[in-house]
Amino acid sequence: MLLVHTRAELESVLAEAKAEQQKIAFVPTMGALHEGHLSLVETADQLAPVVVVSIFVNPLQFGAGEDFDRYPRTLDADLAKLGELDNPPAIVFAPDVETIYGQAVASTQETLSPKPRAGAIGATFEGIARPGHFDGMLEVVSRLFDLVQPDFAVFGAKDAQQVHLVRRMIQRERAGLPQLVEAETVREDDGLALSSRNRFLSGEAREVATVLVDAMIEVVAAIEEDGASPSAAMTAGRQVIEAEPSAKLEYLALVDKSTFAPIADDFVGEAQLIVAAIIGGVRLIDNLTFEIGE
Ligand code: PAJ
Repeated sequence: MLLVHTRAELESVLAEAKAEQQKIAFVPTMGALHEGHLSLVETADQLAPVVVVSIFVNPLQFGAGEDFDRYPRTLDADLAKLGELDNPPAIVFAPDVETIYGQAVASTQETLSPKPRAGAIGATFEGIARPGHFDGMLEVVSRLFDLVQPDFAVFGAKDAQQVHLVRRMIQRERAGLPQLVEAETVREDDGLALSSRNRFLSGEAREVATVLVDAMIEVVAAIEEDGASPSAAMTAGRQVIEAEPSAKLEYLALVDKSTFAPIADDFVGEAQLIVAAIIGGVRLIDNLTFEIGE
Protein backbone atom coordinates (compact mmCIF):
# COMPACT_ATOMS: atom_id res chain seq x y z
CA MET A 1 0.00 0.00 0.00
CA LEU A 2 1.54 3.27 -1.19
CA LEU A 3 0.45 6.59 0.29
CA VAL A 4 0.73 9.46 -2.18
CA HIS A 5 -0.23 13.10 -1.79
CA THR A 6 0.70 14.94 -4.98
CA ARG A 7 -0.33 14.71 -8.62
CA ALA A 8 3.22 13.85 -9.63
CA GLU A 9 3.45 10.96 -7.15
CA LEU A 10 0.09 9.63 -8.21
CA GLU A 11 0.96 9.86 -11.90
CA SER A 12 4.24 8.06 -11.39
CA VAL A 13 2.72 5.13 -9.48
CA LEU A 14 -0.17 4.87 -11.93
CA ALA A 15 2.20 4.97 -14.90
CA GLU A 16 3.52 1.55 -13.86
CA ALA A 17 0.04 0.04 -13.80
CA LYS A 18 -0.82 1.65 -17.13
CA ALA A 19 2.40 0.43 -18.73
CA GLU A 20 1.41 -3.10 -17.77
CA GLN A 21 -2.15 -2.44 -18.98
CA GLN A 22 -3.56 -3.31 -15.60
CA LYS A 23 -7.12 -2.21 -14.93
CA ILE A 24 -7.74 0.25 -12.13
CA ALA A 25 -10.68 0.25 -9.70
CA PHE A 26 -11.20 3.47 -7.75
CA VAL A 27 -12.93 4.14 -4.43
CA PRO A 28 -13.32 7.84 -3.61
CA THR A 29 -13.88 8.64 0.07
CA MET A 30 -13.65 11.49 2.54
CA GLY A 31 -11.92 9.26 5.08
CA ALA A 32 -13.15 8.49 8.62
CA LEU A 33 -13.35 5.01 7.19
CA HIS A 34 -15.77 2.42 8.53
CA GLU A 35 -16.88 -1.04 7.41
CA GLY A 36 -19.06 0.51 4.70
CA HIS A 37 -16.04 2.09 3.02
CA LEU A 38 -13.98 -1.04 3.52
CA SER A 39 -16.63 -3.12 1.78
CA LEU A 40 -16.25 -0.83 -1.26
CA VAL A 41 -12.52 -1.50 -1.26
CA GLU A 42 -13.22 -5.24 -1.15
CA THR A 43 -15.61 -4.87 -4.09
CA ALA A 44 -12.96 -2.89 -5.97
CA ASP A 45 -10.46 -5.66 -5.31
CA GLN A 46 -12.76 -8.12 -7.10
CA LEU A 47 -12.94 -5.82 -10.12
CA ALA A 48 -9.34 -4.97 -10.95
CA PRO A 49 -5.74 -5.77 -9.94
CA VAL A 50 -4.95 -2.16 -9.02
CA VAL A 51 -7.15 -0.48 -6.41
CA VAL A 52 -6.87 3.23 -5.67
CA VAL A 53 -8.59 4.72 -2.61
CA SER A 54 -8.76 8.50 -2.31
CA ILE A 55 -9.17 10.28 1.02
CA PHE A 56 -10.12 13.91 0.58
CA VAL A 57 -12.58 16.05 2.54
CA ASN A 58 -13.91 18.13 -0.33
CA PRO A 59 -14.66 21.72 0.78
CA LEU A 60 -16.78 22.35 -2.32
CA GLN A 61 -19.49 19.92 -1.29
CA PHE A 62 -20.05 21.44 2.17
CA GLY A 63 -22.35 24.44 2.46
CA ALA A 64 -21.93 27.39 4.80
CA GLY A 65 -22.83 26.23 8.30
CA GLU A 66 -22.29 22.58 7.44
CA ASP A 67 -19.79 20.34 9.18
CA PHE A 68 -16.69 20.81 6.95
CA ASP A 69 -14.58 21.94 9.90
CA ARG A 70 -15.76 19.25 12.27
CA TYR A 71 -15.80 16.49 9.65
CA PRO A 72 -13.59 13.76 11.16
CA ARG A 73 -10.06 13.62 9.73
CA THR A 74 -8.43 10.39 10.85
CA LEU A 75 -5.80 9.59 8.23
CA ASP A 76 -3.62 7.37 10.46
CA ALA A 77 -6.56 5.27 11.63
CA ASP A 78 -7.84 5.09 8.04
CA LEU A 79 -4.48 3.81 6.77
CA ALA A 80 -4.38 1.24 9.57
CA LYS A 81 -7.83 -0.06 8.62
CA LEU A 82 -6.92 -0.28 4.94
CA GLY A 83 -3.64 -2.00 5.80
CA GLU A 84 -5.47 -4.66 7.82
CA LEU A 85 -7.62 -5.76 4.88
CA ASP A 86 -6.80 -9.15 3.36
CA ASN A 87 -5.97 -7.24 0.19
CA PRO A 88 -4.99 -3.67 1.01
CA PRO A 89 -5.38 -1.21 -1.88
CA ALA A 90 -2.24 -0.64 -3.97
CA ILE A 91 -2.52 3.15 -3.68
CA VAL A 92 -4.02 5.59 -1.19
CA PHE A 93 -4.26 9.10 -2.63
CA ALA A 94 -4.64 11.76 0.06
CA PRO A 95 -4.29 15.14 -1.66
CA ASP A 96 -4.64 18.55 -0.06
CA VAL A 97 -7.08 21.20 -1.28
CA GLU A 98 -4.41 22.92 -3.37
CA THR A 99 -3.57 19.71 -5.20
CA ILE A 100 -7.18 19.30 -6.32
CA TYR A 101 -8.27 22.90 -6.83
CA GLY A 102 -5.13 24.99 -7.09
CA GLN A 103 -3.68 27.58 -4.78
CA ALA A 104 -6.35 30.27 -5.12
CA VAL A 105 -9.09 27.96 -3.94
CA ALA A 106 -6.95 26.51 -1.18
CA SER A 107 -6.65 29.91 0.47
CA THR A 108 -10.25 31.10 -0.03
CA GLN A 109 -12.86 28.37 -0.26
CA GLU A 110 -15.17 30.60 -2.29
CA THR A 111 -12.99 31.25 -5.32
CA LEU A 112 -14.05 28.25 -7.37
CA SER A 113 -17.65 27.70 -8.39
CA PRO A 114 -18.18 24.12 -9.39
CA LYS A 115 -19.52 23.47 -12.86
CA PRO A 116 -23.33 23.27 -12.58
CA ARG A 117 -23.79 19.62 -13.40
CA ALA A 118 -26.42 18.41 -10.96
CA GLY A 119 -29.32 20.32 -12.58
CA ALA A 120 -32.89 19.91 -11.36
CA ILE A 121 -32.21 16.64 -9.54
CA GLY A 122 -29.43 18.37 -7.63
CA ALA A 123 -32.02 20.79 -6.25
CA THR A 124 -34.36 18.08 -4.90
CA PHE A 125 -34.27 15.94 -1.73
CA GLU A 126 -30.67 16.16 -0.41
CA GLY A 127 -30.18 19.22 -2.60
CA ILE A 128 -32.91 21.15 -0.74
CA ALA A 129 -31.14 20.80 2.60
CA ARG A 130 -27.72 21.07 0.99
CA PRO A 131 -27.78 23.60 -1.87
CA GLY A 132 -24.73 23.26 -4.09
CA HIS A 133 -23.71 19.99 -2.46
CA PHE A 134 -24.10 17.86 -5.57
CA ASP A 135 -22.32 20.30 -7.89
CA GLY A 136 -19.41 20.32 -5.43
CA MET A 137 -19.47 16.53 -5.16
CA LEU A 138 -19.55 16.07 -8.95
CA GLU A 139 -16.73 18.59 -9.35
CA VAL A 140 -14.38 16.63 -7.12
CA VAL A 141 -15.41 13.26 -8.49
CA SER A 142 -14.79 14.53 -12.01
CA ARG A 143 -11.35 15.89 -11.05
CA LEU A 144 -10.47 12.66 -9.25
CA PHE A 145 -11.55 10.61 -12.28
CA ASP A 146 -9.30 12.79 -14.45
CA LEU A 147 -6.36 12.15 -12.13
CA VAL A 148 -6.85 8.43 -11.48
CA GLN A 149 -8.36 7.51 -14.87
CA PRO A 150 -9.99 4.40 -13.47
CA ASP A 151 -11.71 1.63 -15.40
CA PHE A 152 -14.15 1.06 -12.51
CA ALA A 153 -15.42 3.35 -9.77
CA VAL A 154 -17.14 1.91 -6.72
CA PHE A 155 -19.80 3.94 -4.93
CA GLY A 156 -22.00 2.98 -1.99
CA ALA A 157 -25.74 2.55 -2.48
CA LYS A 158 -26.02 4.39 0.86
CA ASP A 159 -25.92 7.72 -1.02
CA ALA A 160 -28.63 7.09 -3.60
CA GLN A 161 -28.82 10.56 -5.11
CA GLN A 162 -25.02 10.72 -5.35
CA VAL A 163 -24.93 7.40 -7.22
CA HIS A 164 -27.62 8.57 -9.60
CA LEU A 165 -25.88 11.85 -10.38
CA VAL A 166 -22.41 10.31 -10.76
CA ARG A 167 -23.84 7.68 -13.10
CA ARG A 168 -25.47 10.41 -15.17
CA MET A 169 -22.27 12.46 -15.29
CA ILE A 170 -20.30 9.41 -16.47
CA GLN A 171 -22.82 8.88 -19.26
CA ARG A 172 -23.10 12.51 -20.29
CA GLU A 173 -19.52 13.71 -19.96
CA ARG A 174 -17.26 10.70 -19.96
CA ALA A 175 -18.66 8.34 -22.60
CA GLY A 176 -19.46 5.71 -19.97
CA LEU A 177 -16.01 5.51 -18.33
CA PRO A 178 -15.33 4.54 -15.60
CA GLN A 179 -17.89 1.81 -15.16
CA LEU A 180 -19.81 2.66 -12.01
CA VAL A 181 -20.31 -0.22 -9.60
CA GLU A 182 -22.85 0.28 -6.82
CA ALA A 183 -22.03 -1.57 -3.60
CA GLU A 184 -24.68 -2.51 -1.05
CA THR A 185 -25.19 -0.47 2.10
CA VAL A 186 -23.42 -1.94 5.13
CA ARG A 187 -25.51 -1.76 8.29
CA GLU A 188 -25.19 -2.24 12.04
CA ASP A 189 -26.94 -5.31 13.49
CA ASP A 190 -30.03 -3.24 14.25
CA GLY A 191 -30.23 -1.94 10.68
CA LEU A 192 -28.72 1.53 11.07
CA ALA A 193 -26.65 2.29 7.96
CA LEU A 194 -23.00 2.91 8.81
CA SER A 195 -22.02 6.55 8.40
CA SER A 196 -19.07 8.68 9.42
CA ARG A 197 -21.60 10.95 11.11
CA ASN A 198 -23.00 8.20 13.38
CA ARG A 199 -20.19 8.96 15.83
CA PHE A 200 -21.95 12.26 16.62
CA LEU A 201 -25.11 10.48 17.81
CA SER A 202 -25.55 10.57 21.59
CA GLY A 203 -26.57 7.30 23.28
CA GLU A 204 -30.26 8.18 23.17
CA ALA A 205 -30.15 9.50 19.61
CA ARG A 206 -28.35 6.33 18.53
CA GLU A 207 -31.31 4.30 19.79
CA VAL A 208 -33.81 6.53 18.04
CA ALA A 209 -31.80 6.42 14.79
CA THR A 210 -33.25 3.04 13.80
CA VAL A 211 -36.52 4.87 13.13
CA LEU A 212 -35.30 5.47 9.55
CA VAL A 213 -35.14 1.73 8.92
CA ASP A 214 -38.46 1.17 10.74
CA ALA A 215 -40.10 3.72 8.46
CA MET A 216 -38.64 2.09 5.33
CA ILE A 217 -39.84 -1.34 6.44
CA GLU A 218 -43.30 0.15 7.03
CA VAL A 219 -43.46 1.53 3.47
CA VAL A 220 -42.36 -1.70 1.82
CA ALA A 221 -44.71 -3.80 3.97
CA ALA A 222 -47.63 -1.48 3.20
CA ILE A 223 -47.07 -1.93 -0.54
CA GLU A 224 -46.05 -5.57 -0.65
CA GLU A 225 -48.25 -7.04 2.09
CA ASP A 226 -51.22 -4.69 2.35
CA GLY A 227 -51.44 -3.67 -1.30
CA ALA A 228 -51.28 0.02 -0.35
CA SER A 229 -50.65 2.65 -3.04
CA PRO A 230 -47.23 4.30 -3.01
CA SER A 231 -48.70 7.57 -1.68
CA ALA A 232 -50.58 5.80 1.15
CA ALA A 233 -47.44 3.80 1.96
CA MET A 234 -45.32 6.97 2.09
CA THR A 235 -47.81 8.56 4.49
CA ALA A 236 -47.56 5.50 6.74
CA GLY A 237 -43.77 5.66 6.61
CA ARG A 238 -43.67 9.36 7.43
CA GLN A 239 -45.93 8.75 10.42
CA VAL A 240 -43.39 6.32 11.86
CA ILE A 241 -40.77 9.08 11.96
CA GLU A 242 -43.20 11.83 12.99
CA ALA A 243 -44.25 9.71 15.98
CA GLU A 244 -40.71 9.97 17.34
CA PRO A 245 -40.43 13.28 19.23
CA SER A 246 -36.65 13.59 18.91
CA ALA A 247 -36.61 12.89 15.16
CA LYS A 248 -37.22 15.60 12.59
CA LEU A 249 -38.29 14.21 9.23
CA GLU A 250 -36.84 16.00 6.22
CA TYR A 251 -38.24 13.82 3.47
CA LEU A 252 -39.44 10.34 2.78
CA ALA A 253 -40.19 9.65 -0.87
CA LEU A 254 -40.44 6.96 -3.50
CA VAL A 255 -38.60 7.69 -6.72
CA ASP A 256 -38.06 5.83 -9.96
CA LYS A 257 -34.59 4.32 -9.55
CA SER A 258 -33.70 5.02 -13.18
CA THR A 259 -34.68 8.73 -13.24
CA PHE A 260 -34.83 9.76 -9.56
CA ALA A 261 -38.23 11.34 -10.31
CA PRO A 262 -41.02 10.85 -7.75
CA ILE A 263 -43.31 7.98 -8.76
CA ALA A 264 -47.06 8.07 -9.39
CA ASP A 265 -49.41 5.59 -7.73
CA ASP A 266 -49.63 3.49 -10.90
CA PHE A 267 -45.83 3.09 -11.13
CA VAL A 268 -44.48 -0.35 -11.95
CA GLY A 269 -40.77 -1.09 -11.85
CA GLU A 270 -37.69 -0.55 -9.71
CA ALA A 271 -38.50 1.98 -7.02
CA GLN A 272 -36.13 3.61 -4.59
CA LEU A 273 -37.33 4.68 -1.20
CA ILE A 274 -35.25 7.57 0.12
CA VAL A 275 -35.39 9.11 3.58
CA ALA A 276 -33.63 11.84 5.56
CA ALA A 277 -34.16 12.92 9.14
CA ILE A 278 -32.34 14.87 11.80
CA ILE A 279 -31.90 12.93 15.00
CA GLY A 280 -30.28 14.54 18.02
CA GLY A 281 -28.81 17.23 15.74
CA VAL A 282 -27.30 14.69 13.35
CA ARG A 283 -28.62 14.50 9.79
CA LEU A 284 -29.02 10.90 8.65
CA ILE A 285 -30.02 9.50 5.26
CA ASP A 286 -30.93 6.03 4.09
CA ASN A 287 -32.62 4.31 1.19
CA LEU A 288 -33.63 0.98 -0.20
CA THR A 289 -34.50 -0.31 -3.63
CA PHE A 290 -37.37 -2.67 -4.34
CA GLU A 291 -39.61 -3.74 -7.16
CA ILE A 292 -43.19 -2.53 -7.40
CA GLY A 293 -45.20 -5.09 -9.38
CA GLU A 294 -48.40 -4.90 -11.40
P1 PAJ B 1 -17.93 9.38 1.94
O1 PAJ B 1 -19.10 9.86 2.69
O2 PAJ B 1 -16.63 9.21 2.63
O3 PAJ B 1 -18.32 8.02 1.28
C1 PAJ B 1 -17.43 7.36 0.43
C2 PAJ B 1 -18.17 6.20 -0.20
O4 PAJ B 1 -18.56 5.28 0.83
C3 PAJ B 1 -19.47 6.64 -0.92
O5 PAJ B 1 -19.58 5.96 -2.15
C4 PAJ B 1 -20.54 6.23 0.07
O6 PAJ B 1 -21.79 5.96 -0.54
C5 PAJ B 1 -19.92 4.96 0.65
N1 PAJ B 1 -20.55 4.58 1.93
C6 PAJ B 1 -20.76 5.36 3.01
N2 PAJ B 1 -21.42 4.68 3.96
C7 PAJ B 1 -21.64 3.43 3.46
C8 PAJ B 1 -22.28 2.25 3.97
N3 PAJ B 1 -22.83 2.21 5.17
N4 PAJ B 1 -22.31 1.16 3.16
C9 PAJ B 1 -21.75 1.18 1.92
N5 PAJ B 1 -21.13 2.26 1.40
C10 PAJ B 1 -21.08 3.36 2.16
O7 PAJ B 1 -19.56 10.03 -0.49
C11 PAJ B 1 -18.52 10.67 -0.28
O8 PAJ B 1 -17.62 10.37 0.71
C12 PAJ B 1 -18.12 11.89 -1.12
O9 PAJ B 1 -19.28 12.52 -1.59
C13 PAJ B 1 -17.19 11.54 -2.30
C14 PAJ B 1 -17.88 10.61 -3.30
C15 PAJ B 1 -15.90 10.90 -1.78
C16 PAJ B 1 -16.81 12.84 -3.04
O10 PAJ B 1 -16.22 13.75 -2.18
